[in-house]
Amino acid sequence: LKTPTGCPVSRKAAEFDPFEDAYQQDPPEYVRWSREQEPVFYSPKLRYWVVTRYDDIKAIFRDNLTFSPSIALEKITPTGEEANQVLASYNYAMNRTLVNEDEPAHMARRRVLMAPFTPEALKEHEPMVREAARAYVDRFIDDGRADLVDQMLWEVPLTIALHFLGVPEEDMDTLRQYSIAHTVNTWGRPKPEEQVAVAHAVGNFWQLAGKILEKMRRDPSGPGWMKYGIRKQAEHPDVVTDSYLHSMMMAGIVAAHETTANATANALKLLLQHPSAWREICDDPSLIPNAVEECLRHNGSVAAWRRLATKDVKVGGIDIPAGAKLLIVMSSANHDERHFEDPDLFDIRRDNSSDHLTFGYGAHQCMGKNLARMELQIFLEELTKRLPHMRLCEQKFTYVPNTSFRGPEHLWVEWDPAQNPERRDP
Ligand code: HEM
Repeated sequence: LKTPTGCPVSRKAAEFDPFEDAYQQDPPEYVRWSREQEPVFYSPKLRYWVVTRYDDIKAIFRDNLTFSPSIALEKITPTGEEANQVLASYNYAMNRTLVNEDEPAHMARRRVLMAPFTPEALKEHEPMVREAARAYVDRFIDDGRADLVDQMLWEVPLTIALHFLGVPEEDMDTLRQYSIAHTVNTWGRPKPEEQVAVAHAVGNFWQLAGKILEKMRRDPSGPGWMKYGIRKQAEHPDVVTDSYLHSMMMAGIVAAHETTANATANALKLLLQHPSAWREICDDPSLIPNAVEECLRHNGSVAAWRRLATKDVKVGGIDIPAGAKLLIVMSSANHDERHFEDPDLFDIRRDNSSDHLTFGYGAHQCMGKNLARMELQIFLEELTKRLPHMRLCEQKFTYVPNTSFRGPEHLWVEWDPAQNPERRDP
């Protein structure tokens, strides 16, 4: 086996397969060999160049002209004719949003659409986030046992995402099914027999996004980022295009929701696997903000992202040809000992936790990062206050096989309801 530049492919590089369970279970561990021995390698199975060290990945994020984000949302596994026809039958035309837009269009659009993400604007959502978190905990607090993903961590971020976007609440179970289909369609490797079902769900998601948009256009007044976008289109029709609005209506639901749902599930799993850290944040909630950053570093919800080389370039000393596709594994960068001391240690007091690359970096860095942080902090505040005595049940964690969006599908916890602080000290 040879790389497109004619070099031999190492055995480890030939074996690399991010759809294997070992990658899902622990991406930084799965590519430890690469961080140590071969930090830039060509994967013949994926036909991507894979980059795993912190400095290389940060440099790629920093230069979005050489490393275009245009492929960020394309199907990582090309689908067959039948699935493509299904998508076409729904007039599926997902195109550029922000995350996969090149300059100069991207920066013009990002600037016009930034205001709803300022700290002052986000503050207004805080009471709603806390209320939603409290209401969901109320439902199971006396049960002594819960699947936090099914009973809270999936739906609350979805509710908040819809509220942030200004989308009226839709059927939550349908949206969950559509979002997972979008993840599999974009970053997964569905088997030929699954591809058609995924294509139907993605096609339906696309049409639903169109319907929501049409309805919103009739009255774009009031709060919500998508309504704000429609109003901005009137002022800047070349910057905020129709194609952008339709694509973003679909991608935005996923970007604002699944990333955060997975991040909270990863964070709780990690904290409960480290009971002394959990006890510390229960005793001293002022530790929560840095604990959140450390959770995002150690076990973030976006494991890897993509860029396209627009010219011949060197990455980490390796020649990458123009047109090459890159998988940049941020979860590995976040465990790079060249940047983080004792990187596998989970340390909620680490002083550079927030250097993690889970939100990307540079021109495209996540616009919703402070909304996500707020949600994570509030969920942890509520759960540490109301269920400080919860612990993880014995369980095997499962993940949706894909390169990028990562969080356990279920998270079972248990506690003794007789010991609930609210019963002892109402
Ligand atoms: C972009 C991660 C939550 C909206 C991104 C990128 C990543 C990411 C990796 C690409 C960055 C790059 O290319 O440099 C995450 C994670 C989240 C999260 C891990 C939760 C823990 C959110 C939320 C929103 C959001 C809640 C709210 C709407 C966006 C947008 C972009 C983006 C609009 C595109 C920015 C641009 O290209 O200019 N996010 N995200 N994200 N995210 Fe997030």
